[in-house]
Amino acid sequence: MQTPSRAGIAGTGMYVPPRVVTNEELAKLMDTSDEWIVQRTGIRTRHHVDPGTGPADLAKEASMRALEAAGLEARDLDAIVLASLSPHHEFPGTSAFLQALLGISEIPAMDVRCQCTGFLYALQVGRLFVESGQYPRVLVVGTEVHSTGIEFTTRGRDVTVIFGDGAGAVVLEPAEGERGVLSVHLHTQGEFARKLWVEAPGSVFQPRIDQALIDDGRHYPQMDGRFVFKHAVTRMPEVMREALDKNQLKLEEIDLFLFHQANLRINEYVAAQAGIPPEKVYNNIEVYGNCSAAAIPMCLDECVRQGRVPEGALVLMCGFGSGFTWGASVVRW
Ligand code: COA
Repeated sequence: MQTPSRAGIAGTGMYVPPRVVTNEELAKLMDTSDEWIVQRTGIRTRHHVDPGTGPADLAKEASMRALEAAGLEARDLDAIVLASLSPHHEFPGTSAFLQALLGISEIPAMDVRCQCTGFLYALQVGRLFVESGQYPRVLVVGTEVHSTGIEFTTRGRDVTVIFGDGAGAVVLEPAEGERGVLSVHLHTQGEFARKLWVEAPGSVFQPRIDQALIDDGRHYPQMDGRFVFKHAVTRMPEVMREALDKNQLKLEEIDLFLFHQANLRINEYVAAQAGIPPEKVYNNIEVYGNCSAAAIPMCLDECVRQGRVPEGALVLMCGFGSGFTWGASVVRW
């Protein structure tokens, strides 16, 4: 029996909306400061959409760039897997809107809802689609519009200063030789679902959203920041170790580490504890903030375009987020 081909990343792309929002601008709207934000999170700017632009629109731009990099057109795709925690509308999934924006039809398009680990979950689905032979070319996208769902007042400042809008995409196709996605490792701990969540609208409410829920701010993200921080710095090293062990790799053999961009301090702490040299870690949170499911593919695209991922390079991606969810993947370029 023929061994199935691994899925390889044939092209990457990213997109952020043009409007840049500085820490100083946020400090005019809420009780915060550039100094506090930079010191605690490492973030200096983030990009926000203008009214009328949604996550499917950002995903389209990132996808077109990834397709171009892969030398493909949208009609060459066999499936779309899209990760987002900020859906274009309640239903159908954002992937359906993206498919239409790409001007294609009938191929399967599905959403993955795994928050800041969403891209890694979507990558696993896409990779298994490719390896099964049923869908040889899969578009995997992470996209978020956070700015329309956060509170620009002091009540929401912990979350609002962190989040940004953006999209990142990869095109998967069967890889040759040793190249490709070596493994993906995924975890969820639902007992902490309410430690970082948006409660409403929710199907447990009748109606799903009303004025009382809005007045209480229950349609905005609520986060126990310290609790999230503590679990992120524990779970990320754990799942990195799992990925390395699975592939019988030593930490030193990894050429590039791409972590989810939630807080620069989380990534610095994880890298320092593991003994990873800073030059092997790429962060872009300083300019984009936390773009959740889009963060890892945005980092990957910037690294690829900067020539930081030569042929044969080993890339380890790792993320943690709401759910709690966490995961890691090793890719040989
Ligand atoms: N500006 C100024 N002060 C702020 C603030 C802001 N944007 N956000 C919170 N504060 C205040 C708090 O109200 C609190 O004030 P108090 O001491 O008077 O109660 C104080 O700063 C300390 O808050 P705390 O939450 O303990 O700060 P922290 O050092 O833990 O930093 C985070 C807050 C959010 C930056 C940090 O907890 C974090 O990054 N957590 C992980 C978040 C994350 O990864 N989220 C996404 C996962 S996908």
